[in-house]
Amino acid sequence: MSTGIPFVSGAKPGLGHVEEFNSTPLDFMHRAFEECGEVSEFDLGGLRTVLLVGPDAHEAMFRTPDAQLSAAQAYQMMVPVFGEGIQYGAEPHIERQQLKMQVQGLKHDRMLNYAQIIEQEVDEFIAAWEDSGVIDVYEQFTQLTLKTSTHCLLGKDLRFRLTDEFGELYHDLENGIAPSSLSNPEEDDERFRRRDAARQRLEELITEAVRDRRARGVHEQDMLQVYMESTYNDGRKLTEHEITGMVIWFMFAGHHTSSNTTAWTLLEISRHPEYLAELREEIDALFADDSALSLKGLRDIPLLDGFIRESLRVHPPLNTITRRVMQDWQYKGYTISAGKNVMVCPHVSHKLPEQFENPEQFDPKRPPASHLFAEIPFGGGHHKCIGNAFAILQVKAILSTLLHNYEFTLDQPADSYLESMPALILRPSEPCRLRYSRRS
Ligand code: HEM
Repeated sequence: MSTGIPFVSGAKPGLGHVEEFNSTPLDFMHRAFEECGEVSEFDLGGLRTVLLVGPDAHEAMFRTPDAQLSAAQAYQMMVPVFGEGIQYGAEPHIERQQLKMQVQGLKHDRMLNYAQIIEQEVDEFIAAWEDSGVIDVYEQFTQLTLKTSTHCLLGKDLRFRLTDEFGELYHDLENGIAPSSLSNPEEDDERFRRRDAARQRLEELITEAVRDRRARGVHEQDMLQVYMESTYNDGRKLTEHEITGMVIWFMFAGHHTSSNTTAWTLLEISRHPEYLAELREEIDALFADDSALSLKGLRDIPLLDGFIRESLRVHPPLNTITRRVMQDWQYKGYTISAGKNVMVCPHVSHKLPEQFENPEQFDPKRPPASHLFAEIPFGGGHHKCIGNAFAILQVKAILSTLLHNYEFTLDQPADSYLESMPALILRPSEPCRLRYSRRS
């Protein structure tokens, strides 16, 4: 029945492992690895899923073409959120062209502009802080990156006009995705009705903005402008339905991934005060000249970089990187048959002692892993993240400004900052409070 692949214990009749996977996905995948080794199979309510652990597995999965291991088929639950005809809801040749448009919007000259926007948002954000106080890092960075992302995406007009409504619509869209969506994307539920209503309203708002911008003949430096001007290979422009989908796709890919990375990095910096003097020296040097943060953010800041990279190793935001097997696929002597999913989980693989010495230890000066596919917070191969430079720029810009202006210390016992993965993205569980005080 399991074609020889070790099958994880604890399956329930009719449900398999779906309940355990949905309630504690990370613990479940660690258990699967400990029990069965680098290849294990489990059952998500009838959808057989094979978990693959380690750099060889990552490389094999990421290098296999979509025709055999399909990302689009695995992530069909995103189609109602982004909309038909966008990304995984589009024909593969259309999806690739849409991806190129997203890449266009993340080019170097645009990034300089986004860095200025981020700087402006961070300054406004900390203007509301007192000289000292307590913040919840999850909540604060979720809010801040919602502002930076909407600003870079939609421009200042919509960012300032829409903040509250956009936040609510986006929340309804996000609620349409849960771990269970991997196995049952069409589950009928109030959450899905709200998701569809939110998408429709967002399309109305974006359509209005696009038409207004076209009527006024203005050209902004944001992603919306990129989408408005992009054309497919046959010369066709994106429709307003597609532009809305591109906006939602960008938000989903970049918002929580970046905000949680910012939160974890600041938590880890505060948990490791032994590096603070060195970190501060590095950051203060950055502010010693008058260059804009846009340039600072792109510059090499080795210790802060090390903290960000190590946070992405220890607390990788995306942990269910999945493909649908379209044609039987061989890996290490096993045949994984068509119709199953294969999955890799950075949270499990990033803790392998063969790849990372003392893997549980947080070490911002850890040398890079020797295998190219050992560290995969941004995935790899055909679908490797296109937003990694933007994400790192954003985290660096936010944290260097904060650390230049404030001291941060723990407001809870160091071991009380825990991980949680209520939806598809790993985040700090609440409370996750830090104390801050303005530097003299
Ligand atoms: C720390 C932040 C981020 C992390 C950890 C992250 C992680 C990932 C991972 C693991 C994948 C591969 C998914 C797969 O193979 O199934 C991915 C893909 C992608 N990411 Fe990111 N991401 C981050 C930020 C961003 C940002 C800011 C953007 C947009 C500006 C973005 C846009 C994308 C896109 C468009 C893809 C799909 C690429 C494709 O299908 O070919 N990401 N990301």
